[in-house]
Amino acid sequence: MSVEVAVIPAAGRGTRMRPATRSVPKPLIPVLEKPAIQYVVEEAVGAGAQEVVFVLSDERILHHFTQGPPIEGLEDVGFRYVLQEEALGLGHAVLCAKDIVGDRPFACLLSDRFPLPGSTLLAEMADAYDGHMVLALEEVERDLIPLYGVVDAAPVGDRWEVSGAVEKPTPEDAPSNLALVGRYVFPPSIFDQIAGAAAGALGEIQVTDAIDALARSDGAVGISCTEDLLDTGLPHGLAEATVAVALARPDIAPEFRRFLRRQLAD
Ligand code: UTP
Repeated sequence: MSVEVAVIPAAGRGTRMRPATRSVPKPLIPVLEKPAIQYVVEEAVGAGAQEVVFVLSDERILHHFTQGPPIEGLEDVGFRYVLQEEALGLGHAVLCAKDIVGDRPFACLLSDRFPLPGSTLLAEMADAYDGHMVLALEEVERDLIPLYGVVDAAPVGDRWEVSGAVEKPTPEDAPSNLALVGRYVFPPSIFDQIAGAAAGALGEIQVTDAIDALARSDGAVGISCTEDLLDTGLPHGLAEATVAVALARPDIAPEFRRFLRRQLAD
């Protein structure tokens, strides 16, 4: 099924990318000459999205896309946004988009998960959507499990049948080593699940509790992604993204390869 609307939460504080984020929203930090979030938008559009809904703390990210001449390849995209006044967590950010999304299924892409050039992950996820939630899953090392939402899943062919999820478990209590990594295709019923989970939340409103509830009631499909997504919310992930994009760019790659070889030889 094609998914025509994409929600991109981008209202986080970006504390791990200070000092850059003292003055620049994290998603506008560039990878070469393009802000990181533009690659994410292009990924969404490549997977079929015609409308992009940003969840923002202010309008600077929106202005990148809407002010001045249209960006090549994004001329026909409808850009919309909603302000998240306070960074109350990812679940809250997604819920902020409810009125714009309405009763449509939607792709959700975290702005700080960067697609490797040529990744077809989101397009595969949109194709797999048949009314049940689709989740990108990455195998993570045991000691990193407490940093993630982790799913309970059984293999079915080259995919996973997901029956639940738990936020930041200990390695001992984790149902698997498969982590939620920032690409989702949600049915609109996720909004009610988030609102329900939010009612009981004391701190940040996470999306994992809502995913858990929806997976338990309706089931969900997991699609493995290995190295499809880099973490540009961290300095080393930004370095990886820069290298990956430079090596994929015919105008830059030849000289850049020579430079890398010289650096690695030292
Ligand atoms: P992170 O958990 O990486 O948080 O958010 P962060 O604030 O961006 O960065 P740190 O931890 O302070 O360094 C994951 C994604 O969810 C969005 C962020 O913008 C990022 O794309 N998010 C998070 C929101 O939009 N609102 C929130 O309340 C929390």
